[in-house]
Amino acid sequence: DWTTHNVVDEQVALIRAQVGDKRAICGLSGGVDSAVAAALVNRAIGDRLTCVYVDHGLMRKGETEQVEKDFVAATGVKLKVVDAQERFLTALAGVSDPEEKRKIIGREFIRVFEQAQAEIVAEAGEHGESVDFLVQGTLYPDVVESGGGTGTANIKSHHNVGGLPEDLQFELVEPLRKLFKDEVRMVGQELGLPEEIVQRQPFPGPGLGIRIVGEVTKERLDLLREADAIAREELTAAGLDREIWQCPVVLLADVRSVGVQGDGRTYGHPIVLRPVSSEDAMTADWSRLPYEVLAKISTRITNEVRDVNRVVLDVTSKPPGTIEWE
Ligand code: XMP
Repeated sequence: DWTTHNVVDEQVALIRAQVGDKRAICGLSGGVDSAVAAALVNRAIGDRLTCVYVDHGLMRKGETEQVEKDFVAATGVKLKVVDAQERFLTALAGVSDPEEKRKIIGREFIRVFEQAQAEIVAEAGEHGESVDFLVQGTLYPDVVESGGGTGTANIKSHHNVGGLPEDLQFELVEPLRKLFKDEVRMVGQELGLPEEIVQRQPFPGPGLGIRIVGEVTKERLDLLREADAIAREELTAAGLDREIWQCPVVLLADVRSVGVQGDGRTYGHPIVLRPVSSEDAMTADWSRLPYEVLAKISTRITNEVRDVNRVVLDVTSKPPGTIEWE
């Protein structure tokens, strides 16, 4: 019988069997999946788990602070924060191809983990055991969509499945591999995680890096971060957070259009709103958001975000479009 209680007990037992008395690290992305995976492993092996939060500079506004504060308060996990913003920006410089971006981000993630591993071992001193396990919040749809073991076509290299380097030095622990998102949320609840974490909308591991169509630069990230914060603020204010699955906000960095703002002509970038409703992200429909909410978001973004003079709405279901633009 499937109950969240059983899933927790079963996974805790499996994790203990797999990890034994060794150590593990877990990358926290700020999302539900990695948080629930970390909480499960924390329950199984306690402080032999160290969570690593990589600040890759591709996060949304306030997200890093939220992870540092909320998650640690709720679980008491050991957390190490690594500032890797420069490293990611350098690695992504000049790259526009979506798959190449995903692979670079996935690779850099792992490199940072390996560095963190070395530091954790060093900090533990001569009696410290090695860190052999890497915990990931891979879900069933991630496995399917990356063609994981099923022989199906690879749609996107989700960085936590398809994008791992071949010389990976860790054994993976993936306690959510058979679960769908709604089940993961129930498991999170069972583990006592707060609503703000359990009900958080999905956000991709590669972050804003795959929401800039074109090259990723610091300036573009800052611009997109502002636009995204406005959209999220207004959707929350309108009470729509539970109704929509997620709303990617995308910057078309290589597109410009003519506008008229303030004293004259502008030649700026469009921002795309991509609100979708979905059960499991495998399929999705575009959300019929109230016009007033769309109008408010559009007005605020064009008024408040420099270099953006147009806001467009994506009215494509999945399929044929994917939820993210890259
Ligand atoms: P797509 O764009 O494939 O997205 O329709 C399906 C769901 O997955 C999220 N997504 C990702 N999550 N790593 C993640 O952890 C990734 O590389 C990744 N790419 C997409 C996306 O936000 C949506 O919820």
